[in-house]
This record gives sequence, C-alpha cells and structure tokens, in this order.
Amino acid sequence: MISLINDVNFKDEVRTIFVGVEENNNPMELEKIINQVKAKKDIFKFGEITTVYPLEDFKSNRIVFVGLGKKENYNLLEIETLFSKIGKDIQEESIIYLDSFSILHQDIHYLCEKLIETIKLVKYQFNNYKKDKNDVKEMDITVFSKFDVAKDIEFGAINAEGTNNARSLVNEPRNKMTPSILAQYAKTLAEEFKLDYKIYNKSEIETLGMGAFLAVNQGSIEEAKLIHIKYRNAKHENVTALVGKGLTYDSGGYSIKPKNGMAGMKGDMGGAASVLGAFEIICRKALKVNVDVIIAATENLINAEAIVPDDVVVTMNGKTIEILNTDAEGRLTLVDAVTFAKRNHAAEIIDVATLTGGVVTALGKEITGAFTNNRSLIEKIKASAEKTGEMIWELPVDQFRKRCKKSNVADYNNSPGRDGHASFAAALIAEFVEDTPWVHLDIAGTSAKESAYLLGPAGGTGVMVRTLANYFEKQNKK
Ligand code: BES
Ligand code: MG
Ligand code: ZN
Repeated sequence: MISLINDVNFKDEVRTIFVGVEENNNPMELEKIINQVKAKKDIFKFGEITTVYPLEDFKSNRIVFVGLGKKENYNLLEIETLFSKIGKDIQEESIIYLDSFSILHQDIHYLCEKLIETIKLVKYQFNNYKKDKNDVKEMDITVFSKFDVAKDIEFGAINAEGTNNARSLVNEPRNKMTPSILAQYAKTLAEEFKLDYKIYNKSEIETLGMGAFLAVNQGSIEEAKLIHIKYRNAKHENVTALVGKGLTYDSGGYSIKPKNGMAGMKGDMGGAASVLGAFEIICRKALKVNVDVIIAATENLINAEAIVPDDVVVTMNGKTIEILNTDAEGRLTLVDAVTFAKRNHAAEIIDVATLTGGVVTALGKEITGAFTNNRSLIEKIKASAEKTGEMIWELPVDQFRKRCKKSNVADYNNSPGRDGHASFAAALIAEFVEDTPWVHLDIAGTSAKESAYLLGPAGGTGVMVRTLANYFEKQNKK
C-alpha cells in the first residue's frame, strides 16, 4: 500500500522516516539530530545512508538520512542510485519525505513517479517456487509531500508493476510457461481491460499460412499459439503493432545449443514479456493510442518431426526461407508475425526479441541493439530510452540484406553467418516488414541479469517495458 499525506509532525511520527539531507536547508524539527550526527559522520555525502535510532525527542524507532551531496544537476542514474538505496533499505512501515529530495529535479511530479517506480522495481522478488518465501509482505509506504502527487504515485506504481510482471514471465521456467500458459496470461490481460483479442491455435495458424512460425513448432508437443490483442483509444486510426518474440524455450533444435548456452533459454520469450508489460501500462494509464500486441509463441525443441538444416519453409507472405541453422528460429517466427501485423494494417511495427548472441558480442549486457528502416520512428524510441535510462544503440541493417538472399533453393536463408549476425537477423525481418516504419529491439543481452543490479534482483529485467510505455505516453500528449 502506498498512501499520501501532506502534513507530518516528525517528532510524533512512529513510522520509519526517510529524509534526504544536504549541507543546508533541512527540516527545522530535524536540525538538532542532524547536527548531532553530522559531528560524527559526513551524512551529506552523495549516497550516504545513515540510520539513526533516536533515544529522545522522537517517537520513531528509526530515521534514515539519505545524503544528497551538492550538485548543480543530478542525472537519472544518480536519482535512481539514491532511490534504489531507499528501496533496498525500506522494510517496515515507512514515511518518505518526498520534498526533501527536491534538489534532485525541478519537477516534483517526475521525482515522485521515479521514487515509487524505483522502490517497487528494487523490491521485486520472484519466489513462486520457494517453499518458505512465497508470501512476501506488502510494502507500507506513505509519501509525505506538500504537493498533490497522488497521480504520480499511481503512475510510478503502474510503471513498476508492468515491468515486474514482465520479469515474472521471463523468470517462470519452461514447464510453467508454455505457449498455452503465455496465451492464457494474454487472454486474462485482454479480458481485464475488455479488449478485442484472439488466440489462434495450430490449425488456425495453418489456415493463416504461417509456415515459418509453424516450422519452429514442429519439434514440440506443446501447441503453438498466435496471440493478438487490440487496444483502441485514439481519435485517429493508426495502429502500432508491438511484436514480441515468444520462444518459451530455445534448445536450438537439431542445431543444438551447447549445455552452457542452453540454460537461461526459458527467457527466450523476453520480447513477448516486454511488449505485454508495456501493453499493461498503456491499458492501465488508458493512453489515447491504438496498439496491437502480436506474439507468435512456441518452443524450439527436438523430436522426429522437428525441422533440420536444409529444410525449406514457406512464409505467410509466400516467400521461402532455407533453414541453415535451426537455432536461428526467432527470425522464422518474427517474419510471419510482422506479416500478420501488416495484414492487420499496422501503420508501424516495433518488435522486441531476444534474437541473437551477436548483439551481446557487439554491445554487451547493458545496451539493447536497435535497428530500423525509419529515422523518425527510431529517434522517438531513442528519446524514450533516454528518459527511462534503458540504453539502446543503433546498428545497421541494409548492408546485410544481400547475404540473407543467398540460397540455392529458396528466396532467403535464415543464417548467413556469424559475422555480424545481429544485423543479419534484423535484415531478414526488414525484408518482410517492407515499407512499414519499423524498429527492432534485440534484447538478448539485456533481458535477464546473472546477478542483482541497481534496479532489481538477478533474473528477468523487464527491459524496454518502460521505454515502450514512455513512447506511447508521448503519443498520448499529442
Ligand atoms: N535465443 C537465441 C539468442 C540468445 C542468445 C538470446 C543468448 C539470449 C541469450 C537465438 O535464437 C539464437 O539461438 N541465436 C543464434 C543465432 C545463430 C544461430 C545465427 C545465436 O545467437 O547464436
Ligand atoms: Mg535460437
Ligand atoms: Zn531463440
């Protein structure tokens, strides 16, 4: 529970109090205690957390001073660093004096949204399968501010919850997150917001002619599902399609992954998770936009019916692809998913996918690879990424188209080589996107973390959820 109050008597307050402190300009009531503590420790140093257990004057058992340092401007990373420290420290019922942090940013509403968002991200845990830990205590936070920040508290919570739900989808193991279970999740979301949706089963996907997508599903006994949810709330008719790679497991298929490369592949639906997380935020904020979510969900496993290298598949738009590597399966599902988006009149397409190890080689694990056929669209996505601090970096597409077309038997091949393969994957999608404005976000490096980080624990990160949501929030204001 997070509530808001506009008046507090610090001395009578029994909850834990979090206060930002700086050299001068601290609350009068706290002056005495600050003076006592600062004689022993530099409590104003940026990021310094000082816990005090007052014995007199105060009823509270614990007061936490957060050192703000002294700067002209604070960047987003610094703001997140401080709020993350609060998130990691906060346990019991607490009150946070929001206005004491106002030197961090001129807009108190922005600051409040960030505060709540960051705390809720930091507090996220995935304990679904830990016997003793699955009843995580709900936080009880009260924001104290002279300003009306109720909406900002709500929006901060929504941003974090959308991201945390995406994280959980990624963290669920393969045996608990099959295409059918993912489809059920999408259905529940659609029904909660009374949206038009359809979950296509295997025979319906066959009728649609999505031969590349279905080829990936051949080796699995779990049925493929095509998820399509429609959200319409703009005055205009333009629809943005959010396409997410939905491989609920990627063993590599017959081009099998080495054992070290396979663990973690339950997260190969990270793109689907991110678009669903962003979509949830769009719905909960009732943004005035039109969005389609499209996910071609399947596993990539091995049995006697599985695809093998040398197979040729017929895609939804009629073009053929020679499979050279069954582990380059994501693009096979995505070319049909973007064709489906186009058939459904998408005015622009944004796809998010844990697509290639190549992007990890190129950009590491902090930066998402971005690819486009449209300058204006990618500039908007980049601007949103700057706002949320989720780093993206653009990589080329067009120079890689030619080798995608190299095949003795088909129109394209699915694996032109390891050199630059993040771009080869993007280039094949680009061929099927054609002229529709498009951005592809390769989150193979950023979708999950091996260890805890500034904004959360190890596991799914929900990367791009907040960036995509921000992109639509900007459209909303137009
Ligand atoms: N799902 C993987 C990409 C991936 C790698 C995601 C690491 C997350 C972490 C994808 O389907 C894949 O297997 N890509 C191959 C492509 C290659 C066969 C051209 C790869 O990256 O090696
Ligand atoms: Mg693969
Ligand atoms: Zn994959």
